[in-house]
Amino acid sequence: MSSKSLFRRKSLSNVVHTPPADVATHVGTIDEGLERNLTVRDLTSLGIAAIIGAGIFSTIGNASFEGGPAVSMLFVFTAIACAFSALCYAQFAATIPVSGSAYTYAYASFGELAAWIIGWALIMEYTVGNIVVAISWSDYFTGLMSGLGWNIPAWLTMGTQSAYIGYNEVLELLQAGQPLSAANPAQLEAYNTWLGAPDFMGGKLVVDLPAFMINLVITALVYVGIKESKNASNLLVLLKMSVVLVVIAVGIFYVDPGNWSPFAPNGVGGVLKGVSAVFFAYIGFDAISTTAEECKDPQRDLPRAMIYALIICTILYVIITLVLTGMVPYTELAVGDPLAYVFTKVGVDWLAGAVAVSAIFAMASVLLVFQIGQPRIWMVMSRDGLLPPVFSKVHPRFRTPSFSTLVTGFFVGVPALLLNMDLVIDLTSIGTLFAFALVCGGILIIDPHGTSTAKFKVPYLNGRYWVPVLLALGGVLVLMYNRESVDEFWSAVGGNGGFEAFRHEIPMLVFLISCVVLAVVSFVKRLSLLPVLGLLTNLYLMTQLGVSNWLLFTVWLLIGLAIYFGYSYKNSKLAKTED
Ligand code: ALA
Repeated sequence: MSSKSLFRRKSLSNVVHTPPADVATHVGTIDEGLERNLTVRDLTSLGIAAIIGAGIFSTIGNASFEGGPAVSMLFVFTAIACAFSALCYAQFAATIPVSGSAYTYAYASFGELAAWIIGWALIMEYTVGNIVVAISWSDYFTGLMSGLGWNIPAWLTMGTQSAYIGYNEVLELLQAGQPLSAANPAQLEAYNTWLGAPDFMGGKLVVDLPAFMINLVITALVYVGIKESKNASNLLVLLKMSVVLVVIAVGIFYVDPGNWSPFAPNGVGGVLKGVSAVFFAYIGFDAISTTAEECKDPQRDLPRAMIYALIICTILYVIITLVLTGMVPYTELAVGDPLAYVFTKVGVDWLAGAVAVSAIFAMASVLLVFQIGQPRIWMVMSRDGLLPPVFSKVHPRFRTPSFSTLVTGFFVGVPALLLNMDLVIDLTSIGTLFAFALVCGGILIIDPHGTSTAKFKVPYLNGRYWVPVLLALGGVLVLMYNRESVDEFWSAVGGNGGFEAFRHEIPMLVFLISCVVLAVVSFVKRLSLLPVLGLLTNLYLMTQLGVSNWLLFTVWLLIGLAIYFGYSYKNSKLAKTED
């Protein structure tokens, strides 16, 4: 194996002109490529369908509780980071208008190994992300059912892992001589669910059935075809946009500006605790790029749709955060259904009910887009020989990637039955940020000076002086407003607190080294400013996700590498062409 072969790259013209006709002829399918019927409106709608979901309906609550009204600023910062990445995605989408998203882009810029790694990381965004959304969906659905008087048995509404963790936590409390009332409500619910569940194979049977069932429905819809999925998605987006707008329009009358003071009650540290939740709320705009082969005019429409979707969602998120934190004190927002909660709180019960119903539709549409995206990434990887041919099998009648769709359904549905949501949400964010960072890096490789002739390109600003100046400015601001964490960092890096303290600073160390390297390279090579800022902002957000997530993500990447060297490296079509 030569190291050169690990970096074998597809030429841009090769990627664009590889006809889908070689999709899966060798597995005996009729392949005429996918059907092209998506317009810019459909794509923007698909983007919004992927973006607005569990993040704004659920996780925003905890983020506001930790950071107060200032979380609205975190939404702005995260949106800026996403916008840099969206511009890079858009340039790639205009240059390489084929399915496969960041995976395909990496193949043309970094080479095969990086492309594999990014494809593998995207599973975190699409499949693991959908596990989170399915579990949130189930929470809203179960709540709504019980509101209507239809109580589903508790052991059919909770993941095995959540019940087991909660049960053991309460058991520990009891063994330590504490009363049952010392447990928090979530722990108590898990404990009672575990105790009340039927016995099963020497343990207990506790599963999240609604999470599984919604995934089944979505998989069936996606299997049947993109056209049907598109119509369903447009309808769902219309519905949830209306509800978000009504929430803003009505909520604004209940805002008490006094609730916005103090604006950042827990300082910068408190605001940054919301990074994972806030970033999760933005995940999805990039999913549009996986449908490139189903767009009428991908080079024109994909970039536009991505940017439109991002702008619309950012405006809505910032306003919603301000409305929520203005309607009730931020300390009340640590709930799973904050948008419904605030209206119950001010006595507008009809709207609270309408929000709960729409949350169910909102999350279903997120599931739909991600369930469309994942199989198409696998399809392209399979066409390239990096996954077995069956992954690019196209259904003869529905003309959708049928096998990949079923595999996606399985890998979302089964874990959703069993897993605890908190454990998967951070993994989704870290995997996605990693993919975004690589996409920004990819633009720096294929078009460092903005000279591309693509129909859309990231506007070029010379980073020679801007990158070092902006980094220095960022450093000064951190020193002024977050001195405490700077002192903590130096103390840990200096060895105070031992290895345990040091290891928590590893992500920040990696980030600081990247800053220095990028400042020097930008100065020497006059790199394009915006992709550099995209790379840095994504890396910065990753530093906020904690070293244990970095470790888990590393293990995930190592498993991916084992598969690459065990299968993909030998079966790569590009390798065969080169031979
Ligand atoms: N952004 C999507 C959501 O919030 C993943 O559900």
